[in-house]
Amino acid sequence: MKTKHVTHKPLLPSTAVMAAAVALTVLVGAANAAPKDPANAPQIKVPAPVLGWASWNAFASSINFDVLKKQIDAYAAPGGLKDAGYTYFNLDDGWWQGARDAAGNMLVDEAEWPGGMKAVADYIHSKGLKAGIYTDAGPSGCGYLNTTRPASAGMTAGMRGHELQDARQFQDWGFDFVKVEWCGGGGFGYQHTVLDSRVAYTTVSAAIAQASAATGRAMTLSMCQWGRDEPWNWAPGLAPMWRTSDDVIFWEKPAGTPDGAAAPLDKMSLRPTLSKALVNFDKGLHPLAHHTGYANDLDMMIVGNAVARGEGAIDLTEAESRTHMALWAMAGSPLLLGSDLTAMNAATKAIVTNAEVLAINQDGRGLQGVKVAEDSAGLQVYSKVLSGSGKRAVMLLNRTAQSAPMMVRWADTGLAGAGTARVRDAWANTDLGSFGASYTATVPAHGSLLLSVSGSEGTSATYTATAGSAGRAATVFKEVKAVAAGLKLANIVYRNGDKAARRASLQVNGQIPTVVSFPPTGGQGKTGAVSVMLSLAKSSANTITFSNAGGSAPDFDALLIQDIAGTNAAALVAAQSGRCIGLPNNRTHLGAEAGLEDCNGGQNQSFARTARNQLAAYGNRCLVAMGAAPAAGAKLGLGECDGATPAAWEFAANGTLAMNGLCLDAPAGGQPALAACDANSQTQRWTFSQ
Ligand code: GLA
Repeated sequence: MKTKHVTHKPLLPSTAVMAAAVALTVLVGAANAAPKDPANAPQIKVPAPVLGWASWNAFASSINFDVLKKQIDAYAAPGGLKDAGYTYFNLDDGWWQGARDAAGNMLVDEAEWPGGMKAVADYIHSKGLKAGIYTDAGPSGCGYLNTTRPASAGMTAGMRGHELQDARQFQDWGFDFVKVEWCGGGGFGYQHTVLDSRVAYTTVSAAIAQASAATGRAMTLSMCQWGRDEPWNWAPGLAPMWRTSDDVIFWEKPAGTPDGAAAPLDKMSLRPTLSKALVNFDKGLHPLAHHTGYANDLDMMIVGNAVARGEGAIDLTEAESRTHMALWAMAGSPLLLGSDLTAMNAATKAIVTNAEVLAINQDGRGLQGVKVAEDSAGLQVYSKVLSGSGKRAVMLLNRTAQSAPMMVRWADTGLAGAGTARVRDAWANTDLGSFGASYTATVPAHGSLLLSVSGSEGTSATYTATAGSAGRAATVFKEVKAVAAGLKLANIVYRNGDKAARRASLQVNGQIPTVVSFPPTGGQGKTGAVSVMLSLAKSSANTITFSNAGGSAPDFDALLIQDIAGTNAAALVAAQSGRCIGLPNNRTHLGAEAGLEDCNGGQNQSFARTARNQLAAYGNRCLVAMGAAPAAGAKLGLGECDGATPAAWEFAANGTLAMNGLCLDAPAGGQPALAACDANSQTQRWTFSQ
């Protein structure tokens, strides 16, 4: 059942590794030979985030064939989006009125859709594009809330109870993509029930897979439940994309509003703002779940949207539009434009078709950017590992109201710190020069720079599977070392001789596992590598397990682990119990309560102490005592790091941690909370070694 122990060695070349490779060949035979040099296994390209356009942000539910035909024509016109590489044309809410016939088939209003939905898909295909459609996982839809048409009537509109029937119908019509909404299942429908989203979407995903297998046409599932129920814990393997927040165009909540709060209808604003795009960006960063063709979806875009509504000027300035696009590119989000394509001005077009920026988003390594520095509050540096060796996309994001010099250090991004790197301005497509150790530039207030960096790759440690993994239910890499807790780049060297991707569940220590996809490597004897980000504990005994996840896993040969030093963090360990502060279920929303958990090195248990004595969590949140002026009994949880809530801790030499003059206490059997400081209390002592 289990694989063997794994050897740990420095990065190749090294004679020890070569000796092990030879030994392996002897052990498992030539057909299953492990690569001589795992670091040279070719990187296997994974599916890129969806690139296209969707109807909602420009037209809401006021769509019909005529309206869309104009958009399709503009999309496919010479020099349009299609020529820039965009492929999907997606209908959103509004085609769908919710009625079914006696056999349960969806009815279509042929006055609005002459020839039915097949005619629309055919027209989209005739222009060389892929066609997307929209429905809901619950029994009803969003019509009541967001519609510019009458609400869909009754409880039969959504897929609930019709999953396979509807998936087959979409296939018959010829659609390649289906967005499945959560109003009907999540509590926002005209009439609704509240369902378990994981169960509901598992059923939908299986129905779509079954209907797709029958026709041979893959249908991409887009899950749209706005980050509810922490989809990053379970969406990889079920769908290539899942929403992580509410609508970018929708409603900007006053600062401090808990994430779960419903939007009051009278406060809904359909005015695009950069600050809401930043909110969605912050909520969309779940780098452990973002890999191998599975993507956090920050929502359809709002670049150029007010033009579509005839307001004469784009709501976002050009600089803001570039920042919005750069955020989505760095996050590896699907890029679904949402503006009226017949009215796109030259500035917007230049932004959305910039080839270098699109390449950052579409990069075949399929990883998400992560925050690697914030030397001063609001001056944030993000880095995304790209395909190849030594390649990074870097975003310098100035969230403050003053322009400021900002620095990216190569070492923080995982590049060789002392090396030289070439830097390009991704927007201007121009070289900026070669720079040793770091690059500094002035970034305007509320602005950003997007850079392509090409330097020397940092070193990694190689762990080799000693006995091959063919036919085993699990492959375990033990004694994986990390000198600091934090995010690591992991290259997984494997073989998959099939024609289709294989999958495996990947678990680090006792963390929530993720399903990883392993595309074909071109033959059973051929190795390849895909990349993921992992969160490791500061330990020489991390355990990384690959196990079957529906079908056989590929054969695993090696694992290469590399630091991303800018993400280094530490666990906050209660001295008495030896347990760790953690955010249950990888919750990331503001107001999520922290508790004590068995230590496992998870990102939900890793905190970075900033120069401002904050404990940053997930990059962009802070671990705080909750409440505007935390008093004794205040619980621990996630807050903003922006100074609106008190976030600074006092770290004392005796191991106490105080906020607002009160000490963090973890009473036996209780939850961590603030208490009056007591120098003799064992439950007020913590270890935190970053
Ligand atoms: C929700 C979704 C949006 C859009 C509308 C349609 O708000 O999050 O993306 O699909 O419904 O009603």
